[in-house]
Amino acid sequence: MHNKPVILTGLRANNDLHIGNYFGALLPLIDMAKTRSEEFEINLFVPDLHSFTTPIDHSQLYDQIMHNLRLFVAAGLPLDNPNIHIYRQSYIPAHSELTWILDCFTGFGEMSRMTQFKDKSAKLLADRVSVGLFNYPVLMAADILLYGASYVPVGDDQTQHLEFARDIATRLNNEFQEPLFVLPRSVSEQHKFFGKDQGLRIKDLVDPTKKMSKSDQSGKGIVFLGDKPNDAAKKIRSATTDSFGRIDIHKQEQAGIRNLLQILALATGRTFDEVDAEYNGHEQYGPLKAAVADAISTFLTDFQDKLASVDDAQLIAKLEADEKLMNQIANDTLYKVQKAVGLRI
Ligand code: TYM
Repeated sequence: MHNKPVILTGLRANNDLHIGNYFGALLPLIDMAKTRSEEFEINLFVPDLHSFTTPIDHSQLYDQIMHNLRLFVAAGLPLDNPNIHIYRQSYIPAHSELTWILDCFTGFGEMSRMTQFKDKSAKLLADRVSVGLFNYPVLMAADILLYGASYVPVGDDQTQHLEFARDIATRLNNEFQEPLFVLPRSVSEQHKFFGKDQGLRIKDLVDPTKKMSKSDQSGKGIVFLGDKPNDAAKKIRSATTDSFGRIDIHKQEQAGIRNLLQILALATGRTFDEVDAEYNGHEQYGPLKAAVADAISTFLTDFQDKLASVDDAQLIAKLEADEKLMNQIANDTLYKVQKAVGLRI
């Protein structure tokens, strides 16, 4: 078990990360890593087994995993801090093993109700909807519970999965009458801890009624961290808005405008309310789009410079050392569970 409270998150490597992943999950964790690593253990990992719950090009996966680890460093993750850990899920077999055990305590009905499963499976041909996609939240619960994580920064789309992790932990603790798992904090406590009133959901630029998603094939409504700054600016300038002709998100359903205001706030480090106050009442959308395009292209230029200077040797040394350590921690938790269910004495 880690000896301090744990903050943990993972970002899948099925594609390049986008600004939703960055602002929704990566940045909150990196902020904690920079400011509160004395009080917490901080785990940032690549859930590589989660990468192919939906079909991907497997010949690209390994490179994508290593690339995403570099993105963590470019985003500011300090590598020389013993309280901060990076690892790949599949290098720690306890994740898979605990998943199987948790699977056997998970109801078919409760997995069927997961909205992400319903959304994603609706987009796939029936025979491509894998059992892996179905029980993906169980693997995610294992990722969290093996390390006793209390705080898990995630975007809004993962809220239901986080609640499931609490449910299954409570279920096993009750069933076996012992504290096998630390309960992750409730979603409202998580928001409070990360200083927000709700989970973040950046929307697709072409269709702002749906979330920006890296599994989306066309890529037109998504700003990837690897996009050329000019291309990203173009995507922003052609973002779908509306025909009201006046910015007033308090009176009108302006999903596209709201999204642009949100992105501008995040990219410039201001609050949503500050940015909203600046643009509320404007009768042209052009200046807002130009400001967002500018902020995002500056952000990407800076980020990509940092990415180019990541030291691979240092990254790999840290990764391998942390994976050894994480195996010990995860195996300790797994062993407690194996004993409780009667697999070990
Ligand atoms: P993934 O890889 O789809 O996304 C990584 C993180 O980015 C957040 N996110 C967003 N946030 C705001 N706006 C968006 N449009 C947006 N799109 C994605 C996601 O909520 C997520 O936090 N199941 C997880 C990965 C995972 C995990 C874990 C996370 C596996 N095990 C354990 C935390 C703890 C996932 O698929 O995220």
